[in-house]
Amino acid sequence: MAPYDAASPPSTDATSKVAFKEVLAHLASGVAIISCWDGQTPRGLLVSSITGLSVEPPRFLFCVRKEAASHDALLASRECGVALLGAADEDEALRFASSSRATERFASDRWRLAAPTPPAYRGGVASIRCNVESVTDAGSHSIIIVSAIDSLLTPGPPLVAWNRGFLRVSQ
Ligand SMILES: Cc1cc2nc3c(=O)[nH]c(=O)nc-3n(C[C@H](O)[C@H](O)[C@H](O)COP(=O)(O)O)c2cc1C
Repeated sequence: MAPYDAASPPSTDATSKVAFKEVLAHLASGVAIISCWDGQTPRGLLVSSITGLSVEPPRFLFCVRKEAASHDALLASRECGVALLGAADEDEALRFASSSRATERFASDRWRLAAPTPPAYRGGVASIRCNVESVTDAGSHSIIIVSAIDSLLTPGPPLVAWNRGFLRVSQ
């Protein structure tokens, strides 16, 4: 299991904050890339906070740190892309989690860049085009609710984040 750099700001205080980060690191989660347009520039980031919210209407929610480069663009967007990553997508996940690699994020030909349609990833377990429905302030993060407009499912084993690395789940 390769470790990743979660690019989170350094902890400044309390042991409890350190302890809580450790707890969160041990929550196994599927991961997704959220993408949108910021004018002519494609933006995106890796999230593990994504969860299905409802089937009718077909909704997800995820949380985005307000300091993330794509935060404001996402809030201003009517649509975004959600790519649920698969076991073969670890490199893609690392690119979208590392601020230092932001310029490499959409370089791969696996990305279909055809504005105003949100950047779409040809890979992973599922690629979903979504409407941004609502945003709730949650302190350091915004909670964003989106609804699926269309989706392409490519069933396969997922990529799972756990303990500061990625697990490839086999079937
Ligand atoms: C496994 C994993 C899960 C993450 N989940 C989230 C998340 O749910 N929300 C978030 O805002 N950042 C999350 N991040 C951090 C962002 O991916 C990272 O800060 C990214 O660099 C932000 O984009 P930026 O560099 O364009 O600001 C996660 C990182 C990792 C490695």
